[in-house]
Amino acid sequence: MINPSQWSNFMKNQIMMSHSYCWGILGLGRIAHKVASDIKQVEGAILYAVASRSLEKAKAFAGDFKAEKAYGSYIDLVKDPEVDIIYVATPHVFHFEHVLLGLQHHKAVLCEKPIAINVDQLSYMIFEAKRTNSFLMEGLWTNFMPHLKKVYDLTQQETYGKCIKIEADFSFKAEFNTEARLFNKSLGGGALLDIGIYPVYLALKLLGVPQNIKANAQFSKTGVDVSNTLRFQYPSGAEALLSSSFAKTTPSKAKVYFERAIIEFGSRFHNTDQLTITTKAGEELLDFHYPPNGFQFEIQHVHDCLEGGLTQSPEMPLKASLELLQTLDTIRKQIGLRYKEDLDH
Ligand SMILES: NC(=O)c1ccc[n+]([C@@H]2O[C@H](COP(=O)([O-])OP(=O)(O)OC[C@H]3O[C@@H](n4cnc5c(N)ncnc54)[C@H](OP(=O)(O)O)[C@@H]3O)[C@@H](O)[C@H]2O)c1
Repeated sequence: MINPSQWSNFMKNQIMMSHSYCWGILGLGRIAHKVASDIKQVEGAILYAVASRSLEKAKAFAGDFKAEKAYGSYIDLVKDPEVDIIYVATPHVFHFEHVLLGLQHHKAVLCEKPIAINVDQLSYMIFEAKRTNSFLMEGLWTNFMPHLKKVYDLTQQETYGKCIKIEADFSFKAEFNTEARLFNKSLGGGALLDIGIYPVYLALKLLGVPQNIKANAQFSKTGVDVSNTLRFQYPSGAEALLSSSFAKTTPSKAKVYFERAIIEFGSRFHNTDQLTITTKAGEELLDFHYPPNGFQFEIQHVHDCLEGGLTQSPEMPLKASLELLQTLDTIRKQIGLRYKEDLDH
């Protein structure tokens, strides 16, 4: 919890000159490349060190992105006293181990989504973050995107009345490969944790934790969900109809219905640059232009939190990550998707 004096410090520091932070990237896969290039866009962010299980790979990555240090092991990265922030970019199942590695070396940690496989793992991470008094945040990057912040504001202020329904989908065709992260159960594969997390988080953010969940899924022969459809129901009568899939490419749109308006997101709703708001008065098109890839907003937010001496983000607090994982755990129980990290597996 953030107390009023922490909050006031946070706000004061917003207007003071920010200082520089040295980032260290742990795990140099697909997403690490995008985030590395966005770190370089943020004032005061230094891509200082990168770590891979292979020193050659780390050296090549460091060369491409002009990072000062390249490490051939993750432990060497977290031991480097110059590193302020560790960005964990390994497959989901390793987030637990790698977040703890960062926290236990008193680093601030930004961890890719989902921050953990289940609530049990996250509860222990939170315990360690508190024990070490270190910053921890889930890298649900879309939470910081300008178009979503606009929708959050309109919802919170009830500009168009209450939110009554959400439809959101995130799907793309992924070539089936038993070893690929997306289909590999031992790496935490499956559509729900990888992309379903975005529609689920949108519903939690706008409508809160649902009273009832009805979930269905289709499985691959590797035992992970290829597609899922979810229906969240709320005591107010509001509902969210959500889906995600690796089986087909869809426009991946979202529509949010309010009492007096409908907000339609452009294609790939999580990082679109267009919103269309339809009211009785007609249609309004909102354009959001920003340089790729879109991770600069969460990177800047981590800096702002650290400047303010915070150990949690006010915008993506660990309570929000807990509610998200609780919801994902409930869905997984219903569809019968268990990972070896689940205590009841
Ligand atoms: N925010 C987003 O838009 C977004 C997009 C994609 C993915 N993600 C998240 O980012 C995380 C990584 O996804 P990714 O697509 O970047 O994965 P990826 O391309 O497979 O890269 C993951 C990296 O983790 C490291 N790693 C450590 N142990 C591993 C193991 N046993 N098997 C495979 N890799 C291992 C590897 O780095 P080294 O070889 O260098 O050690 C690997 O390159 C996932 O949790 C995912 O949900 C987020």
